[in-house]
Amino acid sequence: MTDRILVVGGAGYVGSHVAKAVSQAGFLPVCYDNLSTGHTWAVKWGPLERGDILDREHLDSVVATHRPVAAVLLAGLSVAGDSVSDPGSYYWNNVAGMLCALRVLAGRGVRRVVFSSSAAVYGDAMHMPIREDAPCRPINPYGSSKLMGERLLADFAAAHGLDSIALRYFNACGADPDREIGEAHAPETHLVPLVLEAAAGLRPAIDIFGTAHQTRDGTCVRDFVHVADLADAHLLALRALAGLTGHHVFNLGNGNGSTVREVIAAASEVTGRRIAVNTRPPRAGDPPALVADSALARQVLGWTPRFPGIKRQIFDAWTWHLHHWAEIGRNSHATRPDHDLVA
Ligand code: UFG
Repeated sequence: MTDRILVVGGAGYVGSHVAKAVSQAGFLPVCYDNLSTGHTWAVKWGPLERGDILDREHLDSVVATHRPVAAVLLAGLSVAGDSVSDPGSYYWNNVAGMLCALRVLAGRGVRRVVFSSSAAVYGDAMHMPIREDAPCRPINPYGSSKLMGERLLADFAAAHGLDSIALRYFNACGADPDREIGEAHAPETHLVPLVLEAAAGLRPAIDIFGTAHQTRDGTCVRDFVHVADLADAHLLALRALAGLTGHHVFNLGNGNGSTVREVIAAASEVTGRRIAVNTRPPRAGDPPALVADSALARQVLGWTPRFPGIKRQIFDAWTWHLHHWAEIGRNSHATRPDHDLVA
């Protein structure tokens, strides 16, 4: 029988790309998802078990049925700003939900877990690029909830031999190069898809949050990493757990940050569209710069990002979005808005 990997949150943006990578490597991904932000159309490579990470009984029955050899835990809430206004939901889903899943997995004898963590655990880092041993001082409940998830993993590894790898993603973007899946949030809050909506005329302009940061052009710097490269890293992490014990953390980024203005300029070039911008005050809780040192993931996991450049990342996101908008019947060739600007 084909080995099964439980992908909790497998209908979501990163989770669906992980499911595809797992499937291409010869495993059967079993997606467990409550579809709160995921999509049934994103589950293409194995069964969808609809359920909530907090529903211990249901999750337990799914694990008992499928007997996965490992689990990837991605389910959770991930909008840092929302976590400030609604910390309870973040701790409930991301910490209580994680605890629930780990108790089920440990109870059913699953011994390997890969966890979707975040650069948000670092908060306002003092030095760039950020290494894994930098201090973790999250500045919002989202980052705190991810750090608590990592702590749970470390304790479960020590107590129950549930070996784990936490992958600290920097800024995920892009889409499946084969255009089968991509990024679709409602409402959308992430920079790249918002810029592409502006390029397509689906929104009048893109807001730039903060233009007086201590960066090369005053806008925030982020380390964009292609979602297919993130998916590869999950597969490598699953494989690495065959030879590693305990709990380990790895940064996933390219080490070459782009500013918000550079992202808009790259999107304008890739799409061939003018993109109107509005300058806005800084967004609360946004660190001016987040750039990864991912040397450890390269050395230990053997991770080599295939798509490190921002233009290729935007190209894949754009081609998938055009396809997706066409599929859902929206007009991806809307008239260009009449704004001045100009990336
Ligand atoms: N931004 C804008 N305008 C927008 C949206 C975003 O200027 O309309 C800016 C933000 O201020 C930020 C940058 O674009 O400087 C990226 O913002 P995103 O919302 O796309 O991503 P974040 O950096 O806020 O957060 C993302 C993930 C988090 C993760 C973090 C780690 O959503 O889960 O990356 O780097 F923790």
